[in-house]
Amino acid sequence: MTPENRVIILTGATQGIGRATARVLAGAGCKLALAARRVEPLQKLAGELTAARHQVVAIPTDMGDPAQAAALAQKTFEAFGRIEVVINNAAIGVRDRVLDLQETDARRVMDVNYFGPVALIQAAAPYLKANPDGGLIINVSSIVGRRAMPGIAGYCASKAALEKMAESLRLELKADNIRLSTVYPGVTATRFNDNSLGGSPTGRGRSAGAPPEQVARAILKTIRREPRDVFITLFDRTFVTASMLWPWLMDKLLSRHFR
Ligand SMILES: NC(=O)c1ccc[n+]([C@@H]2O[C@H](COP(=O)([O-])OP(=O)(O)OC[C@H]3O[C@@H](n4cnc5c(N)ncnc54)[C@H](OP(=O)(O)O)[C@@H]3O)[C@@H](O)[C@H]2O)c1
Repeated sequence: MTPENRVIILTGATQGIGRATARVLAGAGCKLALAARRVEPLQKLAGELTAARHQVVAIPTDMGDPAQAAALAQKTFEAFGRIEVVINNAAIGVRDRVLDLQETDARRVMDVNYFGPVALIQAAAPYLKANPDGGLIINVSSIVGRRAMPGIAGYCASKAALEKMAESLRLELKADNIRLSTVYPGVTATRFNDNSLGGSPTGRGRSAGAPPEQVARAILKTIRREPRDVFITLFDRTFVTASMLWPWLMDKLLSRHFR
């Protein structure tokens, strides 16, 4: 769909990929409902974009709470009178081997990365259906939702759940003209590890990888073209394709890499 004037819900907008995406989408003329937990950085970003004459509202939301995730859709409709795109970008990680995984951490990751997006989609769907040209749901997953890595199983499982849900939903909502795209970033230079739960030592601080602006531009392109699956780099696409074709080979390579 054309991005200009579209009303878009974007979760996880206070930093990293979400913040970069907010700037790119605002620049493309989108009207944005920005969500995340931390009020101060959320309002700072909204202020920056409003000062540049973009139409933006900040809606503090904990996506780990289904009631708040659902309220995000209602509040967006109240602010703009319609909802055309939902971007589920907010997520947290958990770093622990399966045998060390704390149940509370594993459940929190599923709450934020899976149940929150489901609640938001359920609440937004009636508004998406009501548009003359339907609506678009974009889920930001990860290449590790397609091929899990050791040490982050809880996170991988949450992204795989999101992807499988979207696979069903795409067919369920076809008749309502609601389309679904999944974006699969690989390693991206954000502070994602700072938010990760779990006991394993993590590389805190900004990680190496693709710049978040590259993912943001891919998300804008996704709105324009609505592809089913979106990879950011050739390496990411090759990694996922090779993992599907030769899972045993990937087991060997990964076990050597993580030894
Ligand atoms: N960075 C990578 O290497 C990488 C790779 C593959 C996929 N991804 C995916 O890309 C997306 C964005 O990640 P990122 O790297 O930009 O991470 P990030 O820098 O940690 O940003 C995550 C965003 O989500 C928000 N958030 C976290 N928990 C939330 C909650 N309970 N409710 C609402 N918002 C919440 C955070 O804001 P608050 O703290 O203010 O709530 C923040 O704005 C995620 O879906 C992630 O899984 C990232």
